[in-house]
Amino acid sequence: MSQHADIKAAVAAAFSAAADTYDDGAEVQREVAERLALRIARLPLPPRARILEIGCGTGFLTRALARIDARELVITDIAPAMLARCRINVRDAAPETAVEFLVMDGEDPRVEGPFDLICASLAFQWFADLPASLARLAGLLAPGGHLAFATLAADSFCEWRAAHSAAGLYAAMHNYPPRAALSNMLPEIAISEDRLHRRYADGIAFLDHLKQIGAHMPEDNRRLGPGALRSVLRGFAGGIDVTYHVAYGTWSRR
Ligand SMILES: C[S@@+](CC[C@H](N)C(=O)[O-])C[C@H]1O[C@@H](n2cnc3c(N)ncnc32)[C@H](O)[C@@H]1O
Repeated sequence: MSQHADIKAAVAAAFSAAADTYDDGAEVQREVAERLALRIARLPLPPRARILEIGCGTGFLTRALARIDARELVITDIAPAMLARCRINVRDAAPETAVEFLVMDGEDPRVEGPFDLICASLAFQWFADLPASLARLAGLLAPGGHLAFATLAADSFCEWRAAHSAAGLYAAMHNYPPRAALSNMLPEIAISEDRLHRRYADGIAFLDHLKQIGAHMPEDNRRLGPGALRSVLRGFAGGIDVTYHVAYGTWSRR
């Protein structure tokens, strides 16, 4: 397997392993999905829309999509157990709509367009090449169709990164894009942002939280050795405030 395929498989396995515990730990993700759903509700979608969701997880955004007047929902995730959980969570939510569930890598979307809406809540930060993926997804939109997403942006987990720098270490976390970079990914894309904060009892509680929701895969599968990790954790004995810097993007095809 290539390194790229290896990383994808590890991300899928980590999220699948968390399918049963995700909902209890994913407060931030629930909140972000609700905020994205409000943005989607303001989009001028046609009646009986055709909708694609990438990275559905257990279905926080999917539940909101099920309330839209849609003829078809194509709900996808790279992690089979997340998709299975979503299917259970949204069963009977949209009796008038054809709902299809697909295990799919959103960076390699094996679905036929066109869609009136393509959306993703907190899945794109796992993509290896977001600009290319956005262009590919935009190509699946019908004229007048919309792309709407929430993704992590540059200042996310800045406290954790700062603790690594202070210890002379590199945090093996993904480097999320700043707003300016997201704004350049598609012509005339609209980006807004906010910052959510959560407090964890200590560094271990933060890492346990990431594991509970399946989001603990380090960048390129790199991990700190136990000694280095201990020196980072020491700085958080009294608790850790964590920033989630969230960017919301909407783009419409002419
Ligand atoms: C943090 S969860 C968010 C789930 C859900 N959208 C929510 O708001 O709770 C990220 C989800 O993205 C999925 N994911 C990660 N990489 C993906 C990819 N390349 N293609 C599709 N889904 C992916 C994960 O399996 C996981 O279910």
